[in-house]
Amino acid sequence: VLPEDTKQTILQLLSRHERKHAAVLGSLRIVQQRQGWVSDQAVIELANLFGLTPSEIDSIATAYSKIFRRSVGRHVILLCDSVSCFVTGYAGIREHLEQLLGVGFGGTTSDGRFTLLPVACLGACDHAPAMMVDQDLHGDLTCQKATAILNNYE
Ligand code: FES
Repeated sequence: VLPEDTKQTILQLLSRHERKHAAVLGSLRIVQQRQGWVSDQAVIELANLFGLTPSEIDSIATAYSKIFRRSVGRHVILLCDSVSCFVTGYAGIREHLEQLLGVGFGGTTSDGRFTLLPVACLGACDHAPAMMVDQDLHGDLTCQKATAILNNYE
């Protein structure tokens, strides 16, 4: 499942780290950038490359909310559910997004355009409520603003 050039990139990364565990997260990011998510088969292949067990790779992958272990849509919305966002309107934004997209947390829209996920604090508490769409951080959300933002993502 991992193309040869991806394996080579990962092996180069591995060669730059004395402790191979330190290179695992970078490798997971490389796989995700190239394949959109990290499948079970990719975990097995990474384990073979690193000389670790698949469960060791998986435990690192699942410790990070931005590493996706299930197939996701073309764009991933991470809606912050931590305290500052919670007290500044998170619930209303969540309800709005779920209605707009027709999916709950963990769901992907039927057209494959968006996956909606919760995330812990995005570090934008002074602009809560906040969400990330792919790599873009959006704060001071209102329902209207969230709709306008999503319209920019095909
Ligand atoms: S609590 Fe939501 S960005 Fe910090």
